[in-house]
Amino acid sequence: MSIKSLLEYARMPQDELIERILSKKEELDAVIFAHNYQRIEVQRIADFRGDSLELARKAKELDAKIILFCGVMFMAETAKILNPEKTVLIPDVQSGCPLAAHASADDVIAMKKKFPNYAVVSYINSSAEVKAVSDIICTSANSVKVVNSIPKERGIIFLPDKNLCHYTKTQTHRENIVCWDGNCYVHDRFTVEDLKDARGKHPKAKIIVHPEAPPDVQEDADFIASTGGMYRFAKEHRGEEIVLGTEVGMVERINDEFPDTSTFPMSEIALCSNMKLITLAKVARSLDEKIFEVVVPDEIAERAKIAIEKMLAL
Ligand code: 13P
Ligand code: SF4
Repeated sequence: MSIKSLLEYARMPQDELIERILSKKEELDAVIFAHNYQRIEVQRIADFRGDSLELARKAKELDAKIILFCGVMFMAETAKILNPEKTVLIPDVQSGCPLAAHASADDVIAMKKKFPNYAVVSYINSSAEVKAVSDIICTSANSVKVVNSIPKERGIIFLPDKNLCHYTKTQTHRENIVCWDGNCYVHDRFTVEDLKDARGKHPKAKIIVHPEAPPDVQEDADFIASTGGMYRFAKEHRGEEIVLGTEVGMVERINDEFPDTSTFPMSEIALCSNMKLITLAKVARSLDEKIFEVVVPDEIAERAKIAIEKMLAL
């Protein structure tokens, strides 16, 4: 089989790329996952779209030889950890999550020494190595449930997102949580002024922000939700106006699936450039050449799996 350069794929018309992807997917017995922040044309060719928790759950119950993951690396790693026998592909290896890079396994081990007996709750936006030294994983959809599963008197180290930590602390009324000092460059940039501007422009709209947004923005919002929560809200409020304080891909998905709902971004420039690295051309190349295979060393995968499974069992 000839190895085509990415440029050759990029020059193909979109219809041809889509046709190629769909037939190759069948031939290989592959399924395509896409996170809500993916480019809309990538989301449209996916078998499943969703938030981090929904995609992790789906990966666990799946029956296919190959999972092609359109998202960032920690999501593809999670799918691989849950499916060691399957091939997991990511169309661009550069698609990492800068929030996940805020904590290394060594940092976590040092923190555990400082706070012995504390439970380590790691956001799914973390590396496989960090998951392997964590007690339990959480996502933005279940952080409150996960923290509530830990006895009230036990301290918690919560990493790496300080805003999700603030949200979880507020919702669980717990003071014994040490928040890591990490943030997401897309969500941490939202300001109260952005929110006020959006209210001025869309006075009838409900404003929903992601818990990775800063605390003052969370306080002024109507609701705080994961991207899956935002999707469900839109589905249940057809015909209404909604403003979303999250990455613009989420807005595109809702407007794509529910054209009768008017959904607007709180900021047009809330773009995760890491998510946007994945294009149809790279998806086609990924299936043709079976690249890039996600590999997690066994010893790390086995320990990380325990922490992820604990979350999924809740
Ligand atoms: P969700 O789990 O809400 O989709 O969030 C993932 C993420 O990366 C948010 O920036
Ligand atoms: Fe990571 Fe933020 Fe992009 Fe989500 S939006 S993948 S947390 S950088």
